[in-house]
Amino acid sequence: MNTTHSPKNRRDFLKWAGAVGAFVTLSGCTTSSSNNEPRPTARMKESTGSSGNDVKILQDALALEHKGIAAYAAGIASNLLDATISPVALKFKGHHEQHRDKLTKTIQSLGAKPVEAMEKYDFGVLASQDDILKLAVSIEELAAFSYAQGAGDLSDHGLVVAAISIVGCECWHTAVLKSALKEDPAPSAFLQ
Ligand SMILES: [Fe+2]
Repeated sequence: MNTTHSPKNRRDFLKWAGAVGAFVTLSGCTTSSSNNEPRPTARMKESTGSSGNDVKILQDALALEHKGIAAYAAGIASNLLDATISPVALKFKGHHEQHRDKLTKTIQSLGAKPVEAMEKYDFGVLASQDDILKLAVSIEELAAFSYAQGAGDLSDHGLVVAAISIVGCECWHTAVLKSALKEDPAPSAFLQ
């Protein structure tokens, strides 16, 4: 088994981390043809890792990033977040925007048109800070789990490392948000 600290893998990761095209995957979700809304599905173990499949996976990931950005934007705009949480939400929104931008460039490099954000997302009633935090946790947990599952469908090991790095980011976000909700930030040994 390759170590993620090998020179080759570091080069691959840096390649992805730059503006050069590479893949991040999200095969735990698929996109509804009607509204680009990501929804969980069974993982496709038989995935071929072909360019076409990679593009589809990338598009699903991008759709979820769009949703996460919109959720944080809604929370920030609500004025329901206190002085401690508001800058955290802004920072996390920025992380998702960075993911979005990398995914967008990668999809474009593969000759496809990146999915766009929906005009409006239905996040239900957001009447308190806790409502917003719970919404963010639900999206972060879905993202972490989906990126983790999706990493297994990549054909390039360096890109698997890149996808896993996003899993780490989403887990950071989840833990911080759960702490703010007075919930256990590290509830188990495995993502679930
Ligand atoms: Fe996140």
